[in-house]
Amino acid sequence: MKHALSPTRRVQSYLSTLTSRSDNMLLGRAAAGIWAALGAWGIRDQVILLPANTCYIVLWAVLKSGNRPLLVDVDPHTANLTVDSLNAALPFAPTVVIPCHMYGLPAPMQAICQWGHQHKIKVIEDVALALGATVDGQPAGSWGDAAILSFGLGKIVDNQVGGALLTSDAAFAREAQRLLAETPLWDDRLMSLTNQWNNLYWSLHQYESVNPRLLDLYPQLFAIYGDLTVYRLAAGDWEDMPKLLRHLPENIAHRATLTAIYDAALQNLHSTLLPPLVRPAGSILWRYPLHIQADQRAVLLAHLWEQGVHDATRWYPPLRPMTTSLAPFLPQPLTPVADALGASVINLPLDEHVSLADAQRTAALITNFLQTS
Ligand SMILES: Cc1ncc(COP(=O)(O)O)c(C=O)c1O
Repeated sequence: MKHALSPTRRVQSYLSTLTSRSDNMLLGRAAAGIWAALGAWGIRDQVILLPANTCYIVLWAVLKSGNRPLLVDVDPHTANLTVDSLNAALPFAPTVVIPCHMYGLPAPMQAICQWGHQHKIKVIEDVALALGATVDGQPAGSWGDAAILSFGLGKIVDNQVGGALLTSDAAFAREAQRLLAETPLWDDRLMSLTNQWNNLYWSLHQYESVNPRLLDLYPQLFAIYGDLTVYRLAAGDWEDMPKLLRHLPENIAHRATLTAIYDAALQNLHSTLLPPLVRPAGSILWRYPLHIQADQRAVLLAHLWEQGVHDATRWYPPLRPMTTSLAPFLPQPLTPVADALGASVINLPLDEHVSLADAQRTAALITNFLQTS
């Protein structure tokens, strides 16, 4: 059947229905939305608050926009920002905060938005890991002055590339769209740069805290790879997205089934594992966050990889080392919780290519390993 609407229009209409936002802009990636939002608000040289365990690309987007990132530590039980943690940053006179639903676990957005309103601090809801989740009774993506979604490699809806910036402020949307229209198109050069950077970063982040001299490399690497923060896609890059979005309910159901398999297998290991992260109502897990002692994480991860479970990963490394290197002009507060989480989480895969049998095998590998080590 031929659709009257183009794929991009269908994606936009789906996202508007999902989040009740009137304006949404399609992007090369979510990071471009942060850059465009800050630019459209005319925010420059200002302090922008980031969770200290979020993805480095959020830091890059803030730097690219000409602003000053400040890390905020997160709650040890939820891995997310709280109003208490944000209050500690008030003396720095921040103008924007970018709360994230880490691993798909909803952040307390109602309280954070009230806090933002009270202190005249704008809120960009980072939904990169939580598409389809419900947050404080509302769809993820419907909170704050704007929200960003990611459809990049490994995300809940994985189109390899792509993202969206959502808002209900038409004037802001017009200005953000104007800025975005001038950004480069995703092409083979950007793809090649992305592959190079991904390989480098995967190696670097595991050694940066044990070898702080590596941090000297980040300013030069940012000069080479920083262009990867902001780009847009050609219309043809959106062709698969309407189908991927239509499939979101099955995608979410599959994640819930695999999550239940991991929960059941791991529940008897609670004396060995660290306490599981709190899962508020409405959570949709991006990957299953197995919370384990840092020394055990390295050996268990190596064991899983040896056994062929290559998509067990260790995101997100603490952002503090890279931030101190790229933004030395602000004294970054200590972020012990984010640092500890960065060293003690294994992400177990929940994507559609993981079958129930795969998850059962991975769970058995973990159980056997921890019971015998
Ligand atoms: C927590 C978080 N926020 C934001 C982003 C940005 O998404 P994108 O890669 O589409 O720019 C990512 C993913 O890379 C992420 O993991």
